[in-house]
Amino acid sequence: MNTHTSNSEKALLTEALFSNRIQHVPRSFIREILKVAVGKDMISFAGGLPNPQLFPVAELQESCNRVMLHTGQDALQYSNSEGYLPLREYIAQRYWQQQKIRINPVNILITSGSQQGLDLLGKVFINPGDRVVIEEPGYLGAIQAMSIFEPQFIPIPLEADGMYPEALNEACSRHSPKLMYVVPDFQNPSGQSYSDSTRKRIAGIVDQYNLLLVEDNPYSDIRFAGQRKKSFYEWLPEKTLLLGTFSKTAVPGFRLGWIVAPDAIMEKLIVAKQAADLHTNTFTQQVLFDFLTHNDLEKHIARIAHTYGAQCQAMTTAIEDHFPAEVTFSRPEGGMFLWAQLPPEWSSKKLFDRAIEQKVAFVPGAPFYVNKFNDSTLRLNFSCTHPDTIRKGIQVLGELLTLQRN
Ligand SMILES: Cc1ncc(COP(=O)(O)O)c(C=O)c1O
Repeated sequence: MNTHTSNSEKALLTEALFSNRIQHVPRSFIREILKVAVGKDMISFAGGLPNPQLFPVAELQESCNRVMLHTGQDALQYSNSEGYLPLREYIAQRYWQQQKIRINPVNILITSGSQQGLDLLGKVFINPGDRVVIEEPGYLGAIQAMSIFEPQFIPIPLEADGMYPEALNEACSRHSPKLMYVVPDFQNPSGQSYSDSTRKRIAGIVDQYNLLLVEDNPYSDIRFAGQRKKSFYEWLPEKTLLLGTFSKTAVPGFRLGWIVAPDAIMEKLIVAKQAADLHTNTFTQQVLFDFLTHNDLEKHIARIAHTYGAQCQAMTTAIEDHFPAEVTFSRPEGGMFLWAQLPPEWSSKKLFDRAIEQKVAFVPGAPFYVNKFNDSTLRLNFSCTHPDTIRKGIQVLGELLTLQRN
């Protein structure tokens, strides 16, 4: 390269080298927002993080020490791509204890968070132009992970009790999708869950087509109201790829998740996993397994659910008190998010700009939609904010919304 090439020319030359697949995948919009939403005096409903005050730091420190002391050399060595067998056995046993779902540990692949599960599924199934059904609004991380493989997304609106089955049936017969991606419990971003009857009808439709269902379930354990619903896996074990994670029930920083898949798919996923990173972090797998065998996970999860339940309650009550009546919102029974719908002529982006000036942040709904611009929805996260602060922040948003109305 000529020594007189300017920086902007260099940038253009580099641009020409990028693959098609990365060119069109946007940076995470939420990460961009979070840059604006930091600051000590900011009330932020914009994040999507589990509450760090609930991380079992002391217990994990003890587990680290035990692992180093007893199996240090093994825990620091390369390992197998499928994952640490005792951890896979623990996951299988917990599916049985909690949901009476029988899963063979050989059908569980440990991944670097469930986010890696999405990437591996993309590698195994998606050719450019393949159709993938997703929820609208949909989980941004899944949209981003799959976009790398250049699918054609077929978005289906999410109703209060899940995707509308007739819309799915029509999409399947018109577009022959290969995959369908759903977050059936306390969805990110909407906080909505599928009812049992919708699950059953959707499972019946998926069964009629040559289509696999990806059930991403990071939040189902964090339930603070209502009863646990049946997993799609119970209806369609051969056609459901179940994604799970310890990010919301233990810690996200260990990056430990998993995929449950039938034998033939498991084989391909292992190839993709080997090509991606050989195997998931051995040390954190062993430390987490030690933590799980020395502590009561269910008690820990109950504490998380109790805390998030109180935060969610503070948020819904404050919304009822302060938001104009035209604004509707979801009432999640678990998870970390709540979704608000403004009248179509109001702008959540305008609200965002004004709210930031008043030191309150949230995520405008637009990036959760593919193939469509929607400026009248917003996502509110409650997991990291004290109920008193939630009430203050919602009051500010309520006052700004009342101004938009006038
Ligand atoms: C629906 C959904 N799927 C997957 C993930 C990724 O989780 P993990 O930390 O297991 O990669 C998240 C994280 O927020 C999520 O909300």
